[in-house]
Amino acid sequence: MEGYRIRGLQVGDGAALAAAYRRNRAHLAPWDPSRQESFYTDEVQEREVERNVALAEEGRSYTYPFWRGDQVVGRIVLSNVVRGPLQSGTIGYWVDREHQGRGLARAGVEHVVVAATAMGLHRLEAGTMLDNAASQAVLRRCGFREYGTAERILFIRGEWRDHLLFQRVLHDDPPGNPGR
Ligand SMILES: CC(C)(COP(=O)(O)OP(=O)(O)OC[C@H]1O[C@@H](n2cnc3c(N)ncnc32)[C@H](O)[C@@H]1OP(=O)(O)O)[C@@H](O)C(=O)NCCC(=O)NCCS
Repeated sequence: MEGYRIRGLQVGDGAALAAAYRRNRAHLAPWDPSRQESFYTDEVQEREVERNVALAEEGRSYTYPFWRGDQVVGRIVLSNVVRGPLQSGTIGYWVDREHQGRGLARAGVEHVVVAATAMGLHRLEAGTMLDNAASQAVLRRCGFREYGTAERILFIRGEWRDHLLFQRVLHDDPPGNPGR
């Protein structure tokens, strides 16, 4: 992780994210929903950043880009944050094709584990396509346990695809804060 930085999304990050998505279009295509051309523009990414910064302020979803200098080289999202008796969130991530194999995904997951624990969440979940061995290896390495398959849950490359489901329970304390 030397030379890399993970931090919360900030207004103004859109252009660096758009450049990363343009560089990684083919790399991410097997695992991502299909995108409109406008998705790869600085303007649309900056609008997405503003939307996601607002979601973080509302406590619903948190995006953390990975940086190498002023270049975005991946990102992890903690989304679907649910409070009450569930105290749960979902993670999703990708790493720039040129920066894979250096522990970035693992560092991103651990960063979110620490943040989610501090927020009082109890559990994180993640889903991978059945043939995404790399992502499954990341999750297992980070202490996630496979708990089932969701059939035809996600529309990717023209078909409803199955997902392997993973979770990691962070602690067994009761929900700490009545506001949560
Ligand atoms: C999956 C992905 C995020 C992995 O990122 P990464 O930064 O290369 O992963 P890391 O270097 O942190 O690897 C973490 C662990 O997973 C293992 N791993 C990573 N890629 C692997 C692969 N292709 N095959 C087997 N194991 C793999 C590593 O060996 C490492 O374990 P170790 O610490 O015991 O050596 C990256 O390949 C990617 O962005 N893929 C395309 C998008 C994607 O699939 N996103 C996830 C959708 S669910």
